[in-house]
Amino acid sequence: MSFRVELAVLSEQKQFCRFGLTLHNLTDQAVNNWQLQFILDRFILADSFTHGEIEQVGSFCVVKPDTHVLEANQHYYCEFSINTAPLRFYTDGLKDALIVANNGETTHSVVLTPIALASPYRERTQIPSVNQATLAVIPKANKIECFDGEFRLTQSSQITLQSNIAQHAANWLQLELETLFDFTAQSIGHSDIVFRNNPTLDEAQYLLSVSGSGIRLEAGSHSGFVHASATLLQIIQRDEKQNLTVPYVRITDTPRFKYRGMMLDCARHFHSVDMVKRLINQLAHYKFNTFHWHLTDDEGWRLEIKALPQLTKVGAYRGKGTQLEPQFSHLADVYGGYYTQQEVKEVIAYAEQRGINVIPEIDIPGHCRAAIKSLPDLLQDPSDRSQYRSIQHYSDNVLSPALEGTYQFLDQVLTEVAELFPSPWVHIGADEVPSGVWLASPACQTLMEENNYQSPKELQGHLLRYAEKKLRSLGKRMVGWEEAQHGNKVSKDTVIYSWLSEEAALNCAKQGFDVILQPGQSTYLDMTQDYSPEEPGVDWAAVIPLENAYCYEPLAQVPDNDPIRKRILGIQCALWSEIVTNQNRMDYMIFPRLTAMAEACWTEKSERNWQDYLTRLKGHLALLDKQGINYRQPWK
Ligand code: ACM
Repeated sequence: MSFRVELAVLSEQKQFCRFGLTLHNLTDQAVNNWQLQFILDRFILADSFTHGEIEQVGSFCVVKPDTHVLEANQHYYCEFSINTAPLRFYTDGLKDALIVANNGETTHSVVLTPIALASPYRERTQIPSVNQATLAVIPKANKIECFDGEFRLTQSSQITLQSNIAQHAANWLQLELETLFDFTAQSIGHSDIVFRNNPTLDEAQYLLSVSGSGIRLEAGSHSGFVHASATLLQIIQRDEKQNLTVPYVRITDTPRFKYRGMMLDCARHFHSVDMVKRLINQLAHYKFNTFHWHLTDDEGWRLEIKALPQLTKVGAYRGKGTQLEPQFSHLADVYGGYYTQQEVKEVIAYAEQRGINVIPEIDIPGHCRAAIKSLPDLLQDPSDRSQYRSIQHYSDNVLSPALEGTYQFLDQVLTEVAELFPSPWVHIGADEVPSGVWLASPACQTLMEENNYQSPKELQGHLLRYAEKKLRSLGKRMVGWEEAQHGNKVSKDTVIYSWLSEEAALNCAKQGFDVILQPGQSTYLDMTQDYSPEEPGVDWAAVIPLENAYCYEPLAQVPDNDPIRKRILGIQCALWSEIVTNQNRMDYMIFPRLTAMAEACWTEKSERNWQDYLTRLKGHLALLDKQGINYRQPWK
């Protein structure tokens, strides 16, 4: 062991905490002319810092100590304050640390001690013990009849297509039968599994019947066949003789909500094409139909734009020697990655075969630091003296609505995005534009005067209205976070994704916007799943135990027959990736809560029941195990 850092909470109040940091030099050598870098995602008050100075950009902090030498077997100590709610989890502490010594010439890794929390939560959730259901269908089918008996698949079972729209679903079923059950259907044999066209069934609806004469999957749409296949994969069993059997059932099923989505943030940490596909495949198993791909943010630009290669050449990488400081992890490395357009096409085709639409998100005008650092000539306003700090502690991450370059950037990016993604919707973000922005930009002030704008929010509206028109000219409908309607400039065609609260969704619906509900308090999968300090995650919106995720009922206070409900197109859950550095962590944050969210999306309110869900979840865990998913154990 060489260097070790300890962070301790010294005192805490509702929105103000004081910390002590100790760095131990456990080597037999002094370090000279050193600085300490560390990652912390809360904003340190620079004036409160003792024994040196601190600089912070995002989560990247640099301590410039007041002593130039850290002697062998000695330590350095400092204190600082943060205007923050009390910390409750170890992942709230330092995420990485590094010593840079000899004026930048050498680096030393630093071992982290888990943060000494002052008041971790005492409560813990308990999942009731239940018996395992034999038919472990998740999300629960809306109508299911069971009969005595079971159909046995054999060496000569064949998948037969009596509908040309079933081809992709049949291929997917075949692939999953091989992967999950080591079962290969024959190309010539008994028509034991038959995909049959049924034009009386609407988009996404399906009928699955299993009887002595075999397995019938009926639908009138590609998505219906995918959902029928997903259900079949969940009810296959293995008997004592290792035969694959399927109980006799008749399932007629139709989704509660038309839009059933999940968002993945690929900017804060980069997730490989294989990880993205793996998630999309899992979404298909739970009858989701939308993958919302968060491709750009302050910490990385992840989409190849052929007209602007700098966006990925510069903006896809962060760390030593790049334009972007390290963030969230990997202090000692250059970290990053991006998706080529060819890879994106591959992902879209993969998703399409599984009945999933891929909506790209290009987040503007906030969350644009990686883009701005990549294209300073186009996107930086040198005369802007505005002072602001975004929620994630950046002071230079917002596009200017008064720069010509901003519009050139938007035209080029949105044109390529519209060509690349078949999705009729393109998400333009619009969240979290910090206050103070544009106020000291002469160009922005002129633009405000010319248009008689009273508030900077109208400048945001100005830019978004341009984006909406551009997208419309490209044949796309603009969608955005709830702040997209700030400044009152975008049309009611814009679909609003509410995330801060359901109230925003209700307000938008009342104004005539269609809405997607993604309330952080219930659907954010980066929130911790229980109260113990070891649980990875954050809790700024809430701690979301499985039961809370399961019990989410959109706009519960609005009566079932209120016409405003027609404006709710659906539900989406989201994984923000600040702490998602690898596949295991991703799995852990997503499962099993994704299965609970799937039921909120698909199953009618009258059919949902927490205890009943648990019996099915228990029966379903074996299938998660087969896939090697590192889910959080619901029963310890
Ligand atoms: C968001 O969580 N900023 C949409």
